[in-house]
Amino acid sequence: MRTIVITGGTDGMGAALARHYLAAGDRVVVIGRSRAKFDALSASNAAFIAADLSLVQDSRRAIDQLRQEHDRIDALVLAASFIRQRRHVTTEGHEASWSLFFLSKYLFVTGLADLLTAADKPVVVNTAVPGARADAIDFDDLEMADGFTFRRSNAHQRRANELLGILATKQNPALSYITWGPTRLVRTSFAGEVGTGMKVAAAIMAPLLGQRAEDAVRPIIGLIDTPTPGRAAYRGAKPRPLTVGAHDEQDAARLGTGVEANI
Ligand SMILES: NC(=O)c1ccc[n+]([C@@H]2O[C@H](COP(=O)([O-])OP(=O)(O)OC[C@H]3O[C@@H](n4cnc5c(N)ncnc54)[C@H](OP(=O)(O)O)[C@@H]3O)[C@@H](O)[C@H]2O)c1
Repeated sequence: MRTIVITGGTDGMGAALARHYLAAGDRVVVIGRSRAKFDALSASNAAFIAADLSLVQDSRRAIDQLRQEHDRIDALVLAASFIRQRRHVTTEGHEASWSLFFLSKYLFVTGLADLLTAADKPVVVNTAVPGARADAIDFDDLEMADGFTFRRSNAHQRRANELLGILATKQNPALSYITWGPTRLVRTSFAGEVGTGMKVAAAIMAPLLGQRAEDAVRPIIGLIDTPTPGRAAYRGAKPRPLTVGAHDEQDAARLGTGVEANI
C-alpha cells in the first residue's frame, strides 16, 4: 500500500487525486485548512491534517505529524492554492503567496526528504506550472517587498519551485520531481482574494472552457504510478523542456541559502 500525501487535498484537483487514490486502496493523507471540506469529500478512510500552509509554523507542525505517523512517503502532491492579486503579509511577517506557494513547499520537500528516500520510487508532483523564465526570480527580494504584481509574484514562485527540484534531486537522485500544470483552465474553486475582473473572468471562462478536475488530474496519476527518477516538467500529459538558465545549480543553492536565512 502506497502512502500519498496531498496538500490542498480538500478541493479542486487535490481532492480529485485524493478520491482516486482512496478508491485505488492507497493510504491518503489530505492537508488543508477546512475540516468541513474534508468531511464533504466522504473520504472517511483518509487521514486529515488541518494546517494553514501560508504559515511556516503550521507547515512545520504538519510535517512533524507526518514524520511521527509515517516512515515512508511514496508520493507528495503539492496542490494547495489561494490566489492573491495583491501583496499580503501573514501574521508571521512573510509575504503570503510566497509563503503558501513556495516556503511551505520548500519545507515539505526538504523536511520529508528521508521519508521520500525510504520509498522505492518516490515522486513529488508540484503543481507550480513549469516554464517561468530563468530570470523570473529576484534573489535579493525573495518576499517581493518592491514591485509586487500578481504576474511577477506568480513567475517568481514558479521559477523557485523549479529550482527546488534541483535541490531535491541532488539530495535524492532516485526522486522523480515533476513541475506540472494543466493544459487549460480547470473548473475548480479558484479560492483566493482577487478583484472583480478576475472573478468575473473565472466565472465566465471556467464553465465554457474549463475541464473537470477528475479529467485534468489523469496525467498526474500516470506520472505518480510510473515515476522516472530526475526532474521533469509537464503541461497535462505533454512533457515540456525544463527551463535552463546560465547558473541553475548556483541559483538553486542561492535560493536554499536565502530561504534558510529567513525561516
Ligand atoms: N485550476 C486551474 O485552472 C489551475 C491552473 C494552473 C495551475 N493550477 C494549480 O493547480 C493547483 C490546484 O489548484 P486548484 O484550482 O485545484 O485549487 P482549488 O480548487 O482552489 O483548491 C485549493 C486547495 O488548496 C487548499 N488551500 C487553500 N489555501 C490554503 C492554505 N493557506 N493552507 C492549506 N491549504 C490551503 C484548499 O483547501 P482549504 O480551503 O481546506 O484550505 C483547497 O484544498 C494549484 O497549485 C494551482 O496553482 C490550477
